Amino acid sequence: MFLEERRNNILDYLDKYERVSVAYLATSFAVTKETIRSDLNVLAQLGLVQRCHGGAIVIRRSLQAKLITETDGTFEVLLRRLESQKRKVQEPERGKNMRGKVCILGSFNVDIVARVARFPKGGESLLALGSTLGPGGKGANQAMAASRAGAQVHFVSKVGKDQFSQFAFDHLSASEIHSFTLYQSETEPTGNAIIYVSQQDGENMIAIYSGANKTITDEEVAAIAPELAGAEVLLVQLENNFNATLNAMKLANALGIRVILNPAPYSADALQCLEYVDVITPNETEASLLSGVEVTDLNSAKEAAQRIAALGARRVIITMGARGAMILEGSQFQHIPAFPALSVDTTGAGDAFNGAFAAAIATGQTIAQAATYAAAFASLAVEREGASNMPQHQQVVARLSQR
Ligand code: RIB
Repeated sequence: MFLEERRNNILDYLDKYERVSVAYLATSFAVTKETIRSDLNVLAQLGLVQRCHGGAIVIRRSLQAKLITETDGTFEVLLRRLESQKRKVQEPERGKNMRGKVCILGSFNVDIVARVARFPKGGESLLALGSTLGPGGKGANQAMAASRAGAQVHFVSKVGKDQFSQFAFDHLSASEIHSFTLYQSETEPTGNAIIYVSQQDGENMIAIYSGANKTITDEEVAAIAPELAGAEVLLVQLENNFNATLNAMKLANALGIRVILNPAPYSADALQCLEYVDVITPNETEASLLSGVEVTDLNSAKEAAQRIAALGARRVIITMGARGAMILEGSQFQHIPAFPALSVDTTGAGDAFNGAFAAAIATGQTIAQAATYAAAFASLAVEREGASNMPQHQQVVARLSQR
């Protein structure tokens, strides 16, 4: 076997299994360990693998500053081409894998958090009890949650060309997120969020500067078609430029993939895309704004869900924190009670729910089963500090068994 072929085979192997030892490769290719070490060193120098003790691990997708454009000019042309290849997947076939595949297009933000005894009033300076700077953004948080919930996640996001873009890359590379495509904006900075978390009850206040999150182009969305094609579920939120989110939903529809829309933060844009959405998951505030019905209890949640369905949504789940979640599917309501939790930080609770819900749906669970799993997952997330700080699947299983 020629050197090039051997190195390509090593890359193929790493693509599949993510990690390999020098000894294994030497035996497989019937060459010396020295030869394999030199192959791995060359591949590492090219940035294709990462050396580790006794072998190598795959380097996840590298920062993509360049666009991959093979769309015959327009996004609509790509859509038409995909429509003709639409997957004919029957419902029972979906999610038959134990580890469902979820594609998430969404934001990455750097969260600057101040822990306060209470929220400051207008014009007031207040000493914070503590402060952190960490990864956030609804998209990235949901990608973390879905990964911890066991899904094989591909995350698509866009950052700037500033010091925070390296922070984003390092965070995503070190996380359990299976793979990611991280675009870079030439002009806009990495998104950030200024967050207050009240010590009283873990409640939060957030101001978001979207920056690069709002600059995803048609070509950048088109380039994720192969990743999307391999997924069971696309999960999106509203922290990116709406056109990118809409295009991703159209692509998913063309490929026959389920779409979950978390309409957060609220934007009336959500009403424009309901035809592409399988499940919409507003919280109480977003449901009130979408429906015009103020959600204050289970009855008003039912009324709001009916109104949202009348606007074109196929399935609605209204998440209500301590009041649980209200599902409307067809004409059937189902209430999922919340799991009791000792809340220290509610930031990212919705992200925990949505990521876990998408992961469960991708494994073939019903809406009610997935929402119950997601409610348990979110109850554990609010017991931890930090929006992206998600629990592990085993902890969720333990909490579920307490019910
Ligand atoms: O949902 C919480 C998230 O909202 C934070 O991480 C912040 O970045 C904003 O996107």
